[in-house]
Amino acid sequence: MAQELLNPTRIPKHIAVIMDGNGRWAKKQGLMRVRGHEKGAKAVRQTVETCAELGVEHLTLYAFSTENWKRPKLEIDTLMRLLVSSLKKELPTLQKNNISLKAVGVLELLPKTAQRELAEVIEATKHNNRMNLTLALSYGSREELITVIKNVANQVKEGTLEIEQIDTEVINQHLYTSYMPDVDLLIRTSGEQRISNFLLWQIAYAELYFTEVLWPDFRKEHLVEAIHNYQDRERRFGKTSEQL
Ligand code: IPE
Ligand code: IPE
Ligand code: MG
Repeated sequence: MAQELLNPTRIPKHIAVIMDGNGRWAKKQGLMRVRGHEKGAKAVRQTVETCAELGVEHLTLYAFSTENWKRPKLEIDTLMRLLVSSLKKELPTLQKNNISLKAVGVLELLPKTAQRELAEVIEATKHNNRMNLTLALSYGSREELITVIKNVANQVKEGTLEIEQIDTEVINQHLYTSYMPDVDLLIRTSGEQRISNFLLWQIAYAELYFTEVLWPDFRKEHLVEAIHNYQDRERRFGKTSEQL
């Protein structure tokens, strides 16, 4: 699908992607799972560049979940190495496109090299303002919400917050994602139709889009198709059609 078919006034502000299917892609080609992850890194670049070009303000990519720590050590090690090499390689692309990198998740669990590289790229791109690219790494929505609840409870205990003041805005401010708006469009590749502990609070009113395409095969045309599908929908937020 061609980019020209999109309505430029209705580009989602925040797109989140569950990049799934790397392992199955590799298996289909008779390759090791890690090859699928390598190929997936290339799909990331195209998605990032296209989103920036289309005027998406926030792109959040699910790269590694809290549950993914249960995978074989060899696969985890490869994913972490791939993260470090991709960060090094992609810094010029981020600078060229004026994109600011951020990360959400329990980053302390990442290997030190990954933490260091991540911190460097985040620092180097912090003044870029065309788009925020957030990597969800060692991220789980339940872990995030538990952290929010603990922090809010602490404020109540210390007397800096009244229980009656706790509302949507207070929760938003305590989330790892406090700097971004709610998700408008959530895309999951590989045919699985589940959320897998990703941004549970933030997708409350997101439009969900599932595609059979495996992540390593995901190209600009697939992204444009997803946004086109999004633009065809009526977002009512509880109201009636007539009220919109
Ligand atoms: C997504 O691809 C990448 C990560 C979860 C890190 P998978 O590795 O889950 O690929 P499938 O689902 O096994 O095909
Ligand atoms: C979700 O994919 C996490 C990422 C894409 C990083 P998984 O492949 O881990 O999800 P499940 O376990 O099949 O639901
Ligand atoms: Mg998977």
